[in-house]
Amino acid sequence: MARLEGKTAFVTGAARGQGAATTQLFLREGANVVIADILAEEGQALADTLGEKACFCLLDVRDEDAWLRAISAAEARFGPIDILVNNAAATFYGAIEETAKTDLERLLSINLIGAFLGMKAVIPGMKARRSGSIVNISSVNGLRGTAGMGAYDATKWGVRGISKTAALELAAWKIRVNSIHPGAIDTPMLNPDGSLDSAQMARDYAIAFGRVGQPEEVAQASLFLASDEASYISGAELAVDGAWTAGLLVNSQSLGHVQ
Ligand SMILES: NC(=O)c1ccc[n+]([C@@H]2O[C@H](COP(=O)([O-])OP(=O)(O)OC[C@H]3O[C@@H](n4cnc5c(N)ncnc54)[C@H](O)[C@@H]3O)[C@@H](O)[C@H]2O)c1
Repeated sequence: MARLEGKTAFVTGAARGQGAATTQLFLREGANVVIADILAEEGQALADTLGEKACFCLLDVRDEDAWLRAISAAEARFGPIDILVNNAAATFYGAIEETAKTDLERLLSINLIGAFLGMKAVIPGMKARRSGSIVNISSVNGLRGTAGMGAYDATKWGVRGISKTAALELAAWKIRVNSIHPGAIDTPMLNPDGSLDSAQMARDYAIAFGRVGQPEEVAQASLFLASDEASYISGAELAVDGAWTAGLLVNSQSLGHVQ
């Protein structure tokens, strides 16, 4: 049997990148999937290629009322939401003294408040059915600091923290909440013009695997945590980063795959 047969998933930021890969994998594993994003054209175009078990929902994750409307519409179409993947995010590069308060507020509102509102929107339905899985996409930036990414780091540490709180608060209702921490993944966020040299980036940033990751590799982790195979896993954090955060890679030249 497919791993998500009979389940309905709601994936934010799903018009492209990791969200789109997650949508496609969940569909292959038997789920209905709502593709939620602010990118209406890309989201609708993706949904159009995926058949009846997928639909696009225009949603800005910062908007609490829009969340409630989106979940109602999704439930009217597919039934109760079993899986929420809070994946939508934006990034910002700049040292702390170069980061305006409004830059930080914008990122917090999308990356952290967006995930918070998503959880609030699905918790009542999941509690009523005493089941559910929430996967919050954080980052390696939620496991360590990164010079020049303070605003983004703050939001991703926040996502990691609130995931653990939610895991504790919701365990009695058999709702599991986990965070995923992708490393450098080849999506428009990291590679907007498609020119990224994967091996070069791995050398520059000392990524032990010698390459960046593919969106499907993160989607596989979301699939596992979303599925019943992870029935005793909640409050966990899973790095999908080619051993980037495992420790310090002192001499990358000694690794066979580094040219
Ligand atoms: N790509 C990487 O290297 C990397 C690394 C670590 C973590 N991540 C995280 O992975 C997740 C997916 O990112 P990605 O790499 O696929 O990037 P991406 O930029 O390709 O996708 C992000 C999606 O979020 C959507 N989005 C942005 N603001 C939104 C809003 N207000 N409401 C609804 N949707 C909104 C975008 O339209 C886009 O479709 C994000 O949480 C990101 O922070 C990415």
